[in-house]
Amino acid sequence: MNPRRTSSTRRWSATKEDAVKKSITVIAVLLLAASSAWAKAGAPDGATIYKSKCAGCHGAQGQGKMGPKLAGTTLSEDDIVKVLTTGGEAKPPHVKAFKGATPEKAKAVAAYIKTLQ
Ligand code: HEC
Repeated sequence: MNPRRTSSTRRWSATKEDAVKKSITVIAVLLLAASSAWAKAGAPDGATIYKSKCAGCHGAQGQGKMGPKLAGTTLSEDDIVKVLTTGGEAKPPHVKAFKGATPEKAKAVAAYIKTLQ
């Protein structure tokens, strides 16, 4: 075996190993950044929003109270999002956009309502 060749091979692979380690670190940092951004944005939870903002008028199961029944609604998710983000209904509280209803939150709660039967 030629020792010079061996040592140069070893050096090459050490360098390559470092590069792999470095890219793994970079990927880990990126994943961490992505997941904490996700958490910070507070991935809206439709069920929680529904329970705190809507159930009082539409019923815990969407069965309706002073507000109409939402369980099994024929409205599409998009229709519900529109009610929340732009309002336009005849009666309060949906004449105007619902307070605090960002498009993301509206979409999450609309998706939840579509699961109510
Ligand atoms: C203060 C009581 C109240 C709260 C709180 C409330 N609603 Fe309503 N909602 C109503 C009433 C009353 C109507 C009927 C409005 C009309 O007919 O113009 C309605 C209508 C709707 C409609 C249209 C239903 C249909 O069949 O046309 C949707 C969708 C809706 N609400 C979703 C929600 C969601 C989602 C929330 C929570 C973010 C919410 N509402 C919070 C009272 C409320």
